[in-house]
Amino acid sequence: MLKRTHMCGALRASDSGNEATLCGWVNTYRDQGKGLVFIDLRDRSGITQIVFDQEDVPAEMMELSRTLRRESVIAVSGPVRMRDGGNNPKMETGDIELVGSKLEILNITENPPILPDEHEAQKIDEEVRLRHRYIDLRRPRMQSILGLRSDVARYTRNFFSGNGFLEVETPLLIRSTPEGARDFIVPSRMYPGQWYALPQSPQLFKQILMVSGCDRYMQICKCLRDEDPRADRQAEFTQIDLEMSFVDQDDVMDIMSEYAVGLFKEFKDIDLGTIPRMAYDEAMNRYGSDRPDLRFDLTIEDVSGIAPATGFKVFTEALAKDDGVIKAMRIPGGAEKLTRKLLDGYGEYAKTWRTGGLPFVKYTGNGDNGGFETGVAKFLAPVADELISTLGLETGDVVLFTADTRSIANTAMGHVRLKVADDLGLIDPEAWAPLWVVDFPMFDWDEEGKRYVSLHHPFSAPLEADVAKLDDDPAGCLSACYDLVINGSEVGGGSIRIHQPAVQAKVFGLIGLSDEEAREKFGFLLEALRFGAPPHGGIAFGLDRLVMLLHGTDNIRDVIAFPKTQHGSDLMCEAPGPVDEAQLTDLGLRVEVQDQTD
Ligand code: AMO
Ligand code: AMP
Repeated sequence: MLKRTHMCGALRASDSGNEATLCGWVNTYRDQGKGLVFIDLRDRSGITQIVFDQEDVPAEMMELSRTLRRESVIAVSGPVRMRDGGNNPKMETGDIELVGSKLEILNITENPPILPDEHEAQKIDEEVRLRHRYIDLRRPRMQSILGLRSDVARYTRNFFSGNGFLEVETPLLIRSTPEGARDFIVPSRMYPGQWYALPQSPQLFKQILMVSGCDRYMQICKCLRDEDPRADRQAEFTQIDLEMSFVDQDDVMDIMSEYAVGLFKEFKDIDLGTIPRMAYDEAMNRYGSDRPDLRFDLTIEDVSGIAPATGFKVFTEALAKDDGVIKAMRIPGGAEKLTRKLLDGYGEYAKTWRTGGLPFVKYTGNGDNGGFETGVAKFLAPVADELISTLGLETGDVVLFTADTRSIANTAMGHVRLKVADDLGLIDPEAWAPLWVVDFPMFDWDEEGKRYVSLHHPFSAPLEADVAKLDDDPAGCLSACYDLVINGSEVGGGSIRIHQPAVQAKVFGLIGLSDEEAREKFGFLLEALRFGAPPHGGIAFGLDRLVMLLHGTDNIRDVIAFPKTQHGSDLMCEAPGPVDEAQLTDLGLRVEVQDQTD
């Protein structure tokens, strides 16, 4: 086989006159007639134009070159020369071409089901591309993402090892870890009827590493959660996971801010600056989300005070609910930009977030209703001045309202907020808005189960100042949790952990776990906490989500070499699939699949 001397993206004008041998895939093939065959030869690094010219090469070589097809794998040697037709500025190797004088066909390719072509890829169903991922990954865009991901992983390891973190691998076959999703489970052969769980995260192990005196741990690890995939969620994903001893939440946020700022500088040449902090309460109340997108400044205001004077039933009935509120969002210039169809669409959309509708109004400064027109204008005259000053209205604005319990009104408006921003093009594609969300409540109240549930996980500590609230006001108790949000995407989350068994027992009690259940589930952690647990805390960043942001894609499957579909299957290796009867016999299992259609 001809020995490769250069990658296909390497040759430049300065190589002209030298001999080179390239190996790769035939990207395009053009037989010009007149004894000229042109090939674009591609590998991971780029593309070089090859020309076979019957003036220069023997007839058999010309013949051989004519048997080539797209995606054939070849090696080709010859002199590099400046291009006859002048430079092609679209190609990095556009100054030169390689004159094919020796050709070896390393593999003839059958007619490929898809081509690794950016333009074609847009038109081909993603499922077909996933089935033939080995071809789709040859696309330059996919190669560049694989490269970026590899570079980010290397940067990450360097950053954390430079800061004294120890990289430790934690096991994949474990007892279930409580991150709130369903576990994937694996049957044990040696203990028939017993099961391992695959880790939803290394949470308990990294805490135990702190008890072990590791001081600072990090790992780039796979996490497995049996939940439905979404645009930014896969059942199998990767975390940059870490834990630190003798720290408070500022220490963890500081080092992660330094990491994130360095990362964006390195890979996007962007200065994220000092990352601001926002309390969870403000995020929910003003942005309707625990991961607010701050690239645009629509905010949600509480206008509950206007309800009684309006006499509008939707408002007064909402306010009568337990924790009922009226929330309003001003859309500057919306009167002209938002069509009736869009406004009605937002109403329907709001309903999918469990509120009854989305009353709206235009502020035109005209008419008999205090300057309000259309929608719910007729109710607003008595509160016009208050509304105008609270929201800072100017003529031409639209105001959207949600009237419901606080949590529903906020959430529905938060989703509408994103949709409006998208429709009105309010998001500057060049803008970057990182944010630490802090001061999360420790617990959510689960109305159905009549008990508290941990908002993060049950190992997160209360804020020092709030420890006493575990006894007298659990709902008002804030936790030492922190999430990093960038452009509305939750990039990472973590907390200071409980390191005192008595506090841990109290939290388990509040979420309705009996001592026995707690011991059964994570007795090994509780035991470890009794034998010299230092104060500790940590965080995990989603590597996939970071790479999505750095590359600029909203599809998580783009940044994973072999992702699962929206329906959780790997179309290439056809997983999940059946196993042999013999494998089941080894495990002492017999399978009876129950109908789960209803
Ligand atoms: P958490 O569950 O918040 O915390 O996860 C941390 C980060 O991991 C990413 N992530 C995901 N990415 C892709 N697909 C998923 N299904 C998925 N789920 C989570 C997100 C998220 O912010 N053990 C704790 C961390 C800690 O407390 O230290 C944990 O796993 O970017
Ligand atoms: P109506 O008085 O039924 O014409 O409704 C006026 C506006 O209030 C419309 O924009 C509806 O979308 C909205 N609306 C009606 N019912 C509800 C509700 N239960 N909650 C919130 N908005 C509502």
